Amino acid sequence: MKSTSTVASVLVAASVAYAQVANVSEPTLVTIRHNQDTIKPYSPVSNVQGLAFNRFYQIWLENIDYDDAAADSNLQWLAKQGITLTNYFAVTHPSEPNYCASAAGDTFGMDNDDFHQIPANVSTIADLLDTKNISWGEYQEHIPYPGFQGYNYSNQVTYANDYVRKHNPLVLFDSVAENSTRLRQIKNFTSFEDDLAKKKLPQYAFITPNMTNDAHDTNITFGAKWERNWVQPLLNNSYFMNDTLLLLTFDEDSTYAKSNNVFSILLGGAIPDNLKGTTDDTFYTHYSIIASVSANWGLPSLGRWDCGANLLEIVANKTGYVNYDVDTTNLRLNETYPGPLSIGEYSKYSPVWPIPLTNATCSAGHGILDIVKETYANTEPTYNYTSPFPYDTKAGYNVDVTATRKNSTKSSNSTSTSSSATAIANAGISVMAPSVALTGLAMGLMLSFL
Ligand SMILES: *[C@@H]1O[C@H](CO)[C@@H](O)[C@H](O)[C@H]1NC(C)=O
Ligand SMILES: *[C@@H]1O[C@H](CO)[C@@H](O)[C@H](O)[C@H]1NC(C)=O
Ligand SMILES: *[C@@H]1O[C@H](CO)[C@@H](O)[C@H](O)[C@H]1NC(C)=O
Ligand SMILES: *[C@@H]1O[C@H](CO)[C@@H](O)[C@H](O)[C@H]1NC(C)=O
Ligand SMILES: *[C@@H]1O[C@H](CO)[C@@H](O)[C@H](O)[C@H]1NC(C)=O
Ligand SMILES: *[C@@H]1O[C@H](CO)[C@@H](O)[C@H](O)[C@H]1NC(C)=O
Ligand SMILES: *[C@@H]1O[C@H](CO)[C@@H](O)[C@H](O)[C@H]1NC(C)=O
Ligand SMILES: *[C@@H]1O[C@H](CO)[C@@H](O)[C@H](O)[C@H]1NC(C)=O
Ligand SMILES: *[C@@H]1O[C@H](CO)[C@@H](O)[C@H](O)[C@H]1NC(C)=O
Ligand SMILES: *[C@@H]1O[C@H](CO)[C@@H](O)[C@H](O)[C@H]1NC(C)=O
Ligand SMILES: *[C@@H]1O[C@H](CO)[C@@H](O)[C@H](O)[C@H]1NC(C)=O
Ligand SMILES: *[C@@H]1O[C@H](CO)[C@@H](O)[C@H](O)[C@H]1NC(C)=O
Repeated sequence: MKSTSTVASVLVAASVAYAQVANVSEPTLVTIRHNQDTIKPYSPVSNVQGLAFNRFYQIWLENIDYDDAAADSNLQWLAKQGITLTNYFAVTHPSEPNYCASAAGDTFGMDNDDFHQIPANVSTIADLLDTKNISWGEYQEHIPYPGFQGYNYSNQVTYANDYVRKHNPLVLFDSVAENSTRLRQIKNFTSFEDDLAKKKLPQYAFITPNMTNDAHDTNITFGAKWERNWVQPLLNNSYFMNDTLLLLTFDEDSTYAKSNNVFSILLGGAIPDNLKGTTDDTFYTHYSIIASVSANWGLPSLGRWDCGANLLEIVANKTGYVNYDVDTTNLRLNETYPGPLSIGEYSKYSPVWPIPLTNATCSAGHGILDIVKETYANTEPTYNYTSPFPYDTKAGYNVDVTATRKNSTKSSNSTSTSSSATAIANAGISVMAPSVALTGLAMGLMLSFL
């Protein structure tokens, strides 16, 4: 939400922290013009069959409270074409850590919209998709050329906010930014129209409208009207719609004291007709999307909060995974825990990069990404990433939240109702006495909390 920071002050900050790459990150206008002529977008295609969908796209608008979005007539129209997710949560504030979380399954304590470059040993959803050569891309409205890494690119006539790096998930990661091929998969809306017309759309995409259209610098009336106008023709495009699941959501809500529940809609050809206009009250977060994409295509987990995240029901129904009911009464997803990307705004700074799981059963059901297992071999995870919601015992973050497997309350046809509740009481972890009953994971967690 620090959208009002002047570019100048940010440039100064960026050049101090990232002097070694300042020329890459903030190209001059001359370089931008040159790159527009020379850097060509890259549009790989693939057709890997998924369990519930063959294409997954998400479009994020900005900073709207659930009730304000739900009251908008254009979003109501869109909701009638699909499934409304009533219990979907952003994971923190402000914007950038949510976009970061959508790619890497963690916020790394980020509590700001600054210029970040996340080390190359942090894996992302692009690495998961690459394990099966599932084509991916990003469509960032008005990014001036594919893979532009600058902090922003303003309207060149009015200098109003237009494209901003903080809303571009994958460019934040060196594992993408250090690879010129991958950079060319981060394209603008002109490329979306080209790819659509040429039937060269990727199977996974993240779509970011500019700061006017995404409601950031306007309001929900404007943003939702833009969204309906953009999406409605696609709903009638048989190439686009074919086995597609499209998520419309928000990066975060706008009232920081609220729960960060964001109004979200699933649309597309993958949705059965009988579910159009219905609601789904399963607990989801932005982490559920990485997990659902993984479960759909049989991909591993990043070993971060995607590991324990609930799966979209459309996928869980195919894999048989039993989601959790999360009691959101005490859930705080409006702030995050300490980490290396904190500036002390809403979380504390800690120099330690969190270590992912290397050995766990995740909701997606296909283990952990090989490079994560290799990179972090013989280390203990920083958090209990198998949880369906983020928590940090050491910082006392979300320790009063409980979750129960959904089947334990809803199996009315089950004759054995006694043993199925898998209650989790995170608060207990820090006071557990060391005992033979501790699992290796729990021991590791305790050690890393010291
Ligand atoms: C950035 O550009 C300046 C001026 O052109 C040059 O002196 C400096 O060496 C460059 N830095 C890097 C890291 O390329
Ligand atoms: C989109 O990107 C292309 C390069 O891929 C560039 O030529 C074009 O000017 C960009 N369009 C807009 C509207 O930013
Ligand atoms: C955002 O994009 C729209 C076109 O989709 C354009 O009309 C508008 O001027 C852009 N906003 C800015 C600030 O350039
Ligand atoms: C860039 O990433 C692609 C996969 O997205 C990979 O095939 C290629 O080897 C990478 N290139 C370099 C130079 O690492
Ligand atoms: C959004 O702004 C427009 C134009 O300023 C206004 O007409 C509309 O009522 C606003 N919508 C909301 C929900 O505030
Ligand atoms: C939908 O995709 C399948 C392959 O996944 C293809 O066989 C079929 O022709 C496509 N249908 C349309 C309308 O594009
Ligand atoms: C998060 O919500 C709680 C409860 O409403 C509030 O006390 C806290 O200040 C909020 N955090 C932020 C960063 O606004
Ligand atoms: C998942 O399965 C349940 C139980 O059969 C059903 O009620 C629900 O509509 C299904 N949801 C989706 C998205 O297919
Ligand atoms: C994974 O954990 C299980 C149970 O804690 C253990 O038996 C197994 O050896 C571990 N595998 C690896 C590769 O560490
Ligand atoms: C980690 O989270 C899972 C899922 O919520 C829970 O079953 C398990 O007990 C937790 N582990 C520890 C050590 O707290
Ligand atoms: C309960 O489940 C069994 C098998 O899953 C099924 O045969 C039976 O009809 C169900 N009973 C009811 C009342 O739904
Ligand atoms: C509920 O799901 C859990 C985890 O998948 C499983 O262990 C348990 O047996 C299930 N309970 C019932 C009653 O199906």
